[in-house]
Amino acid sequence: MMMQMQTSIRDVLEADAKRIDQALDRLLPGAGEEPVSIHRAMRHSVFAGGKRLRPALCMEAARMIAGDPSARTEERRLEGIEDLGSAIEMLHTYSLIHDDLPALDNDDLRRGKPTCHVAYGEAIAILAGDALQTQAYEVLARMRCSAAQTVEIVRTIAQATGTVGGMIGGQVMDLEGETQKPTAKMVEAIHRAKTGALIRASLVSGGIYAGGLTEDVTRLHEFGSKAGLAFQIVDDVLDVTQSSEQLGKTAGKDVASDKATWPAVYGIEQSRKDAQRLIAEAFSQLDQYGDRADGLKMLAKYLVERSH
Ligand code: IPE
Ligand code: IPE
Ligand code: MG
Ligand code: MG
Ligand code: MG
Repeated sequence: MMMQMQTSIRDVLEADAKRIDQALDRLLPGAGEEPVSIHRAMRHSVFAGGKRLRPALCMEAARMIAGDPSARTEERRLEGIEDLGSAIEMLHTYSLIHDDLPALDNDDLRRGKPTCHVAYGEAIAILAGDALQTQAYEVLARMRCSAAQTVEIVRTIAQATGTVGGMIGGQVMDLEGETQKPTAKMVEAIHRAKTGALIRASLVSGGIYAGGLTEDVTRLHEFGSKAGLAFQIVDDVLDVTQSSEQLGKTAGKDVASDKATWPAVYGIEQSRKDAQRLIAEAFSQLDQYGDRADGLKMLAKYLVERSH
C-alpha cells in the first residue's frame, strides 16, 4: 500500500515536472537571444534540476477544485495552468539565485550544479534573479483565465513574495536572525514568510485559476499555511541530516551560518514531529473534498517525507 502510494506520487510529480519544464522552455527567452549571458544564466538555474514542487501543488489544487461539480463549467477548464505553475517556478528560482549570493547565504552549489553567481558572476546572477521575476509577471499577465482571476492571482503572488509576511521579508528576518538567539516565535515568523507564503500562494492561485469559490480559497490558504511551514521545517532537518550529494546543495550550512532554524530551537526529533503534525492538521482542511483531495494529500505527505 505504502509502496503504491510512493510510486504514484512519483508518477504525478514526474508528469507535472515534465509539463512545467516544457512550458518553462517555451516561456523563457532562448539561450541564443541577446544579451545571451543573462538568458543563459536564467536557464542555467531554472533547468538545473529543481523538484518543481510549487507548480505541482498549484496544479494539484486546481485539479481538486475543478473536479467540483458545483463550479461553473466555463471556469472548470485548466488549460494553460502550466503557465501559472511556470511563473511560480521562475519566482522560486529567482529567490534561490539571490539566496545563494555572497551577500546572502553565500553558497556555491544549487540543484547539484554551481550556483548562478559561480557560473556567471555576481552581477549577471543578480540581474538573472531580477529578470526571472519580471518574466514571471509578464507570463502571469498573459494567463488564459479571466481578467478578474488574473488580477487576484497576481495580487496573491506579489504579496507572498513581498516584504510584509512574504518571501523577501522572510529573507530579511532570516539574515538578521544570524546574529540573534533564535526563539520559537522568531523562527516561526521567518519560516512562514520566507518559504511558507509562496507555497501557500501556489495552492491558492491554483484554486483561483480553477474557478474556486471564496470558501475553497480560504481552505487552500489554511492548508497552504500549514504545509508551507512544514516544508521549511523539513528543509532545516534535511540540512542537518543529509549529505550535500543527496541535497544538491551544501549540507550543514545552517549551523555553520548560525541560522535561526526549527532544529536549533526544538531539536531534530521534535522538528520531525512538528512537520508531521502540521501536515495532519493541514489535511483536515480538505475533509470537505473527500477523495478528490487524495492527490493533494499525497503530495503534501511527500513534502514532509522527502529525502532531498
Ligand atoms: C528550496 O526549495 C528552498 C526552500 C525554500 C527551502 P526546494 O526544496 O523546493 O528546491 P528545488 O526547487 O527542488 O531546488
Ligand atoms: C530559502 O531558505 C528560502 C528562500 C526564500 C530561497 P534556505 O536558505 O534554507 O534555502 P536553501 O536551504 O538554501 O535551499
Ligand atoms: Mg537562506
Ligand atoms: Mg540558503
Ligand atoms: Mg535550507
